[in-house]
Amino acid sequence: MRAGVFDSGIGGISVLKSLLDSKVFSEIIYYGDTARVPYGGKDKDTIIKYSLEAIEFFAPHCIDILIVACNTVSAYALEEMRKKAPYPIIGVIESGVLALQNTLHNKQDPILIIATQATIHSKAYLLSLKKLGYENIASIATPLLVPFVEEGILEGEFLQQCLHHYFKDLHTHPKAIILGCTHYPFIAKEIKKYFKEEVLLIHSGEAIVEYLQSKGIYDTHPCTQVQFFSSEDSEKLKKKGEELLKRLSI
Ligand code: DGL
Repeated sequence: MRAGVFDSGIGGISVLKSLLDSKVFSEIIYYGDTARVPYGGKDKDTIIKYSLEAIEFFAPHCIDILIVACNTVSAYALEEMRKKAPYPIIGVIESGVLALQNTLHNKQDPILIIATQATIHSKAYLLSLKKLGYENIASIATPLLVPFVEEGILEGEFLQQCLHHYFKDLHTHPKAIILGCTHYPFIAKEIKKYFKEEVLLIHSGEAIVEYLQSKGIYDTHPCTQVQFFSSEDSEKLKKKGEELLKRLSI
């Protein structure tokens, strides 16, 4: 099966890593709209417009399925994209919720959702978790973490200061944090460090394979061939993508 993986930038590489580890597809075409990242501060119509343009990008690649490895797009544009595409499209929010459900069994445990402004504003995670009976949920938009990852600043004091800026007013220590943006798994170690290691991090990429299998969408291949494309400099994205994949393997 040939899959497309789409993100606004390089965040979707965290999902790509899970797909590669599971050997679920024979080929993956990765597309990052790096010329227009971040999507997280844009309005709904713009996010939909850019997402539909991604469907146009994938048209000549004849993919069998599209994984939307971007929470912001998953929160706003899946319906419109599905109307336009001749293949199934899967977003990351449903799998993120599933991952939390599989990990956190006590419905009273405090949960923190961190994501882009647009994803938080959509309440996509909040409403799904409330429906499942989780009660103690805080949400914080943490948009500055996206440029940190795009710039390759994945650790250090500057990043810790940024985390402090966002988390300093939290009243309760979270038991689990939903990394509601696919850029965030790259700074997972620093987030854990900030919370003194006493927190579970939920990464939707890890759940997406399980989700695909539960829907009967899988295949096993000895290796997956990957091609990287971006809306500005595909070579640059390929280089960054390969570095980030290595980093997640350590
Ligand atoms: N990686 C994207 C997400 O999961 C968002 C980054 C952006 O703001 O473009 O939401």
